[in-house]
Amino acid sequence: MMLNAPLTGVPANDLADIALKLAETGLVIRDDFLPAELIEQLASEGRALRDNGGLRAAGIGRGQQFQANSAIRSDHIQWLDPETATPAQRHYLGLLEELRLAINRTLFLGLFEFEGHLALYPPGAYYRRHLDQFQGTQHRLVTVILYLNPEWREADGGQLRLYPDPADDGRFQDLLPIGGRLVCFLSGDFPHEVLPARRERLSITGWFRKRD
Ligand code: OGA
Ligand code: MN
Repeated sequence: MMLNAPLTGVPANDLADIALKLAETGLVIRDDFLPAELIEQLASEGRALRDNGGLRAAGIGRGQQFQANSAIRSDHIQWLDPETATPAQRHYLGLLEELRLAINRTLFLGLFEFEGHLALYPPGAYYRRHLDQFQGTQHRLVTVILYLNPEWREADGGQLRLYPDPADDGRFQDLLPIGGRLVCFLSGDFPHEVLPARRERLSITGWFRKRD
């Protein structure tokens, strides 16, 4: 058997690189992380869910604290469930499992599981500035976002705006949600927001968590 054989199409070395970069800078961006056909498949499944009423208004907070609050975010989501995942979703989940192990080997974060959702931002939708850790809990340690939008341009809006210094609102980095782009960052270190999208915007967003 070949050592280091890629199980899911992304060489183990690339995953180790992502983990290293995450350890060094807290933020990693990888374009063309997955082949265009797989991205298109994931996107078309998202559009089918939209058409069949399979998406719900996203909320903020957990459990009792959950609120659908469209002043803060106006995207629509479906949580991923490994039991009912499509083959394309399962492929991506498999890759994330390898990434989780690679990050644990490098950062010793004790990442335990992944939770994530497909997200669709209709034209005009946004997500105001926030941290991916709910008040009083730090279970989400690493955020991983995969964008599903081919040919996204500046004029389409919908940028992910990251603030590397929580105390300095004037310093930020904008990223377009280009299909195949993977963005991975330490959840507690980067406040961020999604600027209003002028086109429908699709992504799979998730978090590696530690045990409750
Ligand atoms: C989120 C989020 C960013 C994006 O869902 O928590 O911040 O670019 N998403 O989709
Ligand atoms: Mn977020």
